Amino acid sequence: MKRLSSLFLLASLALLVSCGGKEEKKEEKESLKIGTSKEAEKQEDSKTVEVSLTGNDMMKFNKNEIRVKAGQEVTLTLSHVGTMKKIVMGHNFTLLKPGTSIQEFALKASEAGEEKDWIPEDGKEVIAHTKMLGGGESDSVTFMAPEPGTYDFICSFPGHSALMKGKFIVE
Ligand code: CO
Repeated sequence: MKRLSSLFLLASLALLVSCGGKEEKKEEKESLKIGTSKEAEKQEDSKTVEVSLTGNDMMKFNKNEIRVKAGQEVTLTLSHVGTMKKIVMGHNFTLLKPGTSIQEFALKASEAGEEKDWIPEDGKEVIAHTKMLGGGESDSVTFMAPEPGTYDFICSFPGHSALMKGKFIVE
């Protein structure tokens, strides 16, 4: 009888231990799961980035450098914070493909004219661009960040690219 009860005790002890072990493992699994989903969230966050840029009546952007990461989906919003009309102080954000000469592109943009929204050759040399805006207007464009490198962005309104330009850096 004594032996039986100690066997019983042993068995229940073993059960307790194994239960405890299971519990621990489950917790471990859960914390691992939490860790993984946090990591996934982080990655999810960095997949998209919002960039805001303004242009004013002084023919200036508020940024001359924009940094994003390769593979990110970029949503760039340009706001014209001035009051002048589109026909005299139009602004857009135009991101040029690598190897594009700003001067040559600007000349072609002037020739393309208002009818083409100041974007020549149907955007052949453009990665992304917003609409041309007048004072008080804004427009967004969403695009995938190109491969790492340094790209030029300009306003393609006639005469503006001399002042309205900057570097778009993909890291
Ligand atoms: Co402009």
